[in-house]
Amino acid sequence: PRSLLLAPSLLAADFAALGAACKEAEAAGADWLHVDVFDGSWELCPNFTLGPPVVAALRGATALPLDCHLAVQYPDRHLDALLAAVAGGPGGRPPGGGGAGGVTVHWEVAGPEAWAEGVEAEQRDSAAAARVAGWAARIRGYGLRAGVALAPSTPLPGALVGLARAGGVDQVLILAVDPGFGGQGFQGGVLGKVRELRAACPDLRIVVDGGISALTAPQAAGAGADVLVSGSWLFGHPQGLAAGLAELRAAAE
Ligand code: DX5
Ligand code: ZN
Repeated sequence: PRSLLLAPSLLAADFAALGAACKEAEAAGADWLHVDVFDGSWELCPNFTLGPPVVAALRGATALPLDCHLAVQYPDRHLDALLAAVAGGPGGRPPGGGGAGGVTVHWEVAGPEAWAEGVEAEQRDSAAAARVAGWAARIRGYGLRAGVALAPSTPLPGALVGLARAGGVDQVLILAVDPGFGGQGFQGGVLGKVRELRAACPDLRIVVDGGISALTAPQAAGAGADVLVSGSWLFGHPQGLAAGLAELRAAAE
C-alpha cells in the first residue's frame, strides 16, 4: 500500500557509540531509527536498555525520526519524559528538522486490572483499547506517531483492529521475536496477524520487528508490512549498513 520503510534497531548497535550508529544509519539511507526503550518492569520483556535521557541525546545526534518501542509494564511512569525527548523538547519539534518520530506502547500492559479473572474477553479488550487510545492521544499531542505493539503470543484482538480502523493509532507493531533481545529467530506464525490487519486496514502503517533478514523481509512485506525493523542482521552485515539496507529493500520490494 505504501513505500517500504526500513528502520535499523539501535539495540544491535554499539551502546558506547550510539551517536556514530545514528550517523551511520542516516548516511546509509535508513528511513527511521528504531529505539527499544525497556526498563525490565514487564515480565514478558526481561531486559533493561535505555530511557528518556539517552533518547534526548539521540534526538540531538540525528535528523532521522526516532521510532521508540516502549515495552514496559507502566508506560505512564515515563511517557511524558519520553515524548519530550523524542519530540525535541516539551511539546516541541526536533531541532534538527527531522521528521516526527513515534512512540509505540504494548497492548498487553494496557490495563492489567481489566485482565482479572472473570472479566469477559470482550470487556477486557475494550478496556485495553480505551487505555491505548488515551496514550495515543498523548503521543499525538507532541506531534508524534502513536503506535501499539503485540507480542508474538498475543492474538490479534478485535478491539485493536477496531481502534486502528477508526484511526485511533497511526501504526501497529507486530513483534516477530520474544520481547527483550535481538538476534532471535523470526516467528513466522505472526504473519497471519499481519495479513489480517492489512486486510482490515489498507492505509495503516504495519511494522514488523524482530528476526528481519533478506530471507524473512519478503515474507513480512508480502503479508502486508510496510515498515521493517532489523537489528542484528543489519548491524552485523559483512558489507556494512548501506549494503544491508539495499539488500533488504531489493528482497522485500
Ligand atoms: C526485541 C526488539 C527488537 C530487536 C530486533 O524485543 O523489539 O527491536 O532489536 O532485533 P533483531 O533484528 O536482531 O531481531
Ligand atoms: Zn523493538
